[in-house]
Amino acid sequence: MTDVTETPFGYTDGDVDTNHSTATTLNELAEQRYSRRTLLRGSSAIVAATMGGSLVAACDNNDVGSDAPPTVAAGTAVTTASGRMVTLTGTATDDKQIATIAWTQPSGPLITLSNPNSNTVSFMAPVVSAATDFRFRFAAIDSKGQTSSAETIVTVNPPALGFTAVAKNKLDVVTVPAGYTVSVINRTGDPIAAGVAAYKNDGTDTNFAQRIGDHGDALYWYGLSATGTPDATSSTRGLLVQNHENINDQYLHVAGPTTVNGARPESEAQKEIDCHGVSVTEVAEGANRAWSVKQDSSFNRRITPATPMAFNGPAKGSNLLKTAFSPTGVAGRGTINNCANGTTPWGTALTCEENWAGYFRRSGDNANRSAKELTALSRYGVSSSTGSYGWSTVVAADSANTLFRRWDARAGTGAATSDFRNEPNQFGWVVEIDPYAPASTPRKRTALGRMGHEGCWPGAFVVGKKPAWYMGDDSRREYIYKFVSATAWVAADANPTDRLAIGDKYMDSGTLYVARFAADGTGTWLPLVYGQNGLDGSNAAYPFADQADVLVNARLAADKLGATPMDRPEWTAVNPVTGEIYVTLTNNNAAGRPLNGTDPANPRHYNDPKGGTAQYGNPNGHIIRMKEADTEATSFTWDIYGFGAGADLDKTNINLSSLDDSNDFSSPDGLVFARATHAGGQAKPMLWLQTDDGAYTDVTNCMMLAAQPGTVGDGGARTITNTGSGGATATQATRIGAAPGANLRRFLVGPVECEITGVDSTPDGRTLFVGIQHPGEGGTPAAPTSNWPDSQAGGTVAKTIRPRSAVVVITKNDGGVVGL
Ligand code: FEO
Ligand code: CA
Ligand code: CA
Ligand code: CA
Repeated sequence: MTDVTETPFGYTDGDVDTNHSTATTLNELAEQRYSRRTLLRGSSAIVAATMGGSLVAACDNNDVGSDAPPTVAAGTAVTTASGRMVTLTGTATDDKQIATIAWTQPSGPLITLSNPNSNTVSFMAPVVSAATDFRFRFAAIDSKGQTSSAETIVTVNPPALGFTAVAKNKLDVVTVPAGYTVSVINRTGDPIAAGVAAYKNDGTDTNFAQRIGDHGDALYWYGLSATGTPDATSSTRGLLVQNHENINDQYLHVAGPTTVNGARPESEAQKEIDCHGVSVTEVAEGANRAWSVKQDSSFNRRITPATPMAFNGPAKGSNLLKTAFSPTGVAGRGTINNCANGTTPWGTALTCEENWAGYFRRSGDNANRSAKELTALSRYGVSSSTGSYGWSTVVAADSANTLFRRWDARAGTGAATSDFRNEPNQFGWVVEIDPYAPASTPRKRTALGRMGHEGCWPGAFVVGKKPAWYMGDDSRREYIYKFVSATAWVAADANPTDRLAIGDKYMDSGTLYVARFAADGTGTWLPLVYGQNGLDGSNAAYPFADQADVLVNARLAADKLGATPMDRPEWTAVNPVTGEIYVTLTNNNAAGRPLNGTDPANPRHYNDPKGGTAQYGNPNGHIIRMKEADTEATSFTWDIYGFGAGADLDKTNINLSSLDDSNDFSSPDGLVFARATHAGGQAKPMLWLQTDDGAYTDVTNCMMLAAQPGTVGDGGARTITNTGSGGATATQATRIGAAPGANLRRFLVGPVECEITGVDSTPDGRTLFVGIQHPGEGGTPAAPTSNWPDSQAGGTVAKTIRPRSAVVVITKNDGGVVGL
């Protein structure tokens, strides 16, 4: 709009030469200017200084008779959406000189402009729940004191996805939408302590307890103030807490892992062990939005499978936790296979131990095990004859060092504290870490149960209500759980001096529940409480001794209660506006769930052929969601938000969410709603969805999508026809959410053979951190199948460069909220 007929100060265009007496004087004008609400918040000092100076100069010259007022324009109207950057450009010309220009707001909700006395102003469109007009006025005063102004309207719509979907691809780079930039930080092996050598990435590097671990998984940002104190609002300096789930052992050694006379070399095993666990690294934004890690930060920390741990909650001190290292069952060493995560409002991180069972050598000791022990070991899959990577075969140089031997969980004939038969019971927990206290001992929160913990995401913290955390147990036919604290939330606990003590308060006592889904779209949370519903010594399958036994063997307790077995529950996410709980059910196969094994919550059985190979079951997975009255509720309603499927699959029975080329995906895993601190997490919060897929990888590498989901019940009931191998069919009723359409869009595709896992933003939403796990996992040291992240820059990359897991930083080039 270029309307110049009215100034903000009572002046009418064309009037000035004949109506001096009624024109507002400059002093009046200045007075009005400073008293108006058009003075912009946070910048009034700048306005006063600039305008004041020019007004004084103009007052020296009262002769305006030969002067024409400035000609101004405020630019065309703008339509945008919350979280996007808006730029307004005003122009002013004059027959004399322009003395002062200013952008102001004559009406509407105020927006802070950082530099209002310039032609061009930029700001982030604020969050609105309905389309809202914001009026902006651009005014100019010439050297004679003549004023003109023009207005423009900025119409802001509620937050919406604002990028063009990335095409499926099999490139060896991270692909993001136009208008975004990717950079790489925190690669496997990067040094995170002073004096540690740069990573050579040729298999000779050592000292992984002071380097970034392998297989970066879930991550979360913990802000730091300029002075290095905890600051939940900081978006420029903070700590990244990231899980390191597993390893690509072939790339960690010069020519891959070796075994000598049946034993793993100690140095190799040490390296592999140290590559697991968690990293805490200080990161900061520098000039030009470049992010880097502070290698010598005193906050940097590696938590490994050797880091001292404390046990807390009902299983602390239980006979089931006693080992040769911990004869009282109150202490442990390390954490392993840390997959998804969780957080707390008091500034701690939760890391979740997932596929720990496979690391233990166990088979062959049946004669020395009780019937109960054998039932429990079988139920948790502790059955390996070697243990992953064969660590227990190491002959340690220090014979008193049991950090290798403890991976041998075979029971001897002596007491339980004479060996490591109970070492597997020390894993499978949610572990709380204080990232701001590098010397603190992490605490394993046994009240949350022992399983193949994927994640542990909190629901809303409402004063006076008991908070809850939602958890998936990732294995075929396992369950979804929630833990409800025994203690109602007190707001002051968000800012404690002893963060882990607040963890004790809320996470050491409470009730663990498991979910049962009913066909009518309702569900029940079933309490895992010793003495209730048959969870006692009378349970034939596994007689429980006490609450510690129930928690250590939560799967067996959930079996007894009749929980609903699911298609591999991965991450849990909670909508920050509605409180609805989303859970990825990554996939299942025909062995895990045959044609006649479907149920309303796990409804599909079909074939998704990959190349010439049939894939029966639910190879593409789905995402279920639940709505409950509040975190204390023992019932819920549910439906299925989305079904993974290739766009080419039958929309009647398989591609039930009507996915197309812009949003088709397979095997959902990582799942996080945007933080409520920025536009992406408000009004209609954005959901990040990441894949860990093997079923659709003939078409595309793994990916991350952004969604703006609706609510439970926005679709309806449906009956589908399933098909098994051999052509047998069966019908299954289910409940399906509204098709996502354009509210689900592919944001990123990863490099070759990776999994996308881990995502968080800074509180302002302008910087997104995404984990790229195990690129080139199928390659060899001599012939890597990926060269990422070296390949990210483009150009020619030596095909012998070993791939590394890494975190990428994604920013929107115009500075807006990523995704919007
Ligand atoms: Fe580590 Fe279930 O993903
Ligand atoms: Ca996962
Ligand atoms: Ca997965
Ligand atoms: Ca993984």
